[in-house]
Amino acid sequence: MTNKVQIIDNGPMQLTGEFELVDDNGQIVRARKIYRLCRCGLSARLPFCDSSHEHAGFSSSPRAPQCGHSADPAPASTSNTPAPSQ
Ligand code: FES
Repeated sequence: MTNKVQIIDNGPMQLTGEFELVDDNGQIVRARKIYRLCRCGLSARLPFCDSSHEHAGFSSSPRAPQCGHSADPAPASTSNTPAPSQ
């Protein structure tokens, strides 16, 4: 099974697969096959979604650029040295 992270339009981020959710101390919070993590910040069960986004009218539908798309940002230059010519 391929692990999958999906941003649900106007809702949570859903993780499907073999994930361990750990806190900042490395303690396992849960080990499940499906997580729905809150993106709106309104859940009473953070970091999990409790569907509060539905009543709040949360709106967010980000789209990632396609892999290999020319619109991908070029890496930032970290040097003043000109790139070698080809
Ligand atoms: S995304 Fe569902 S409660 Fe925040």
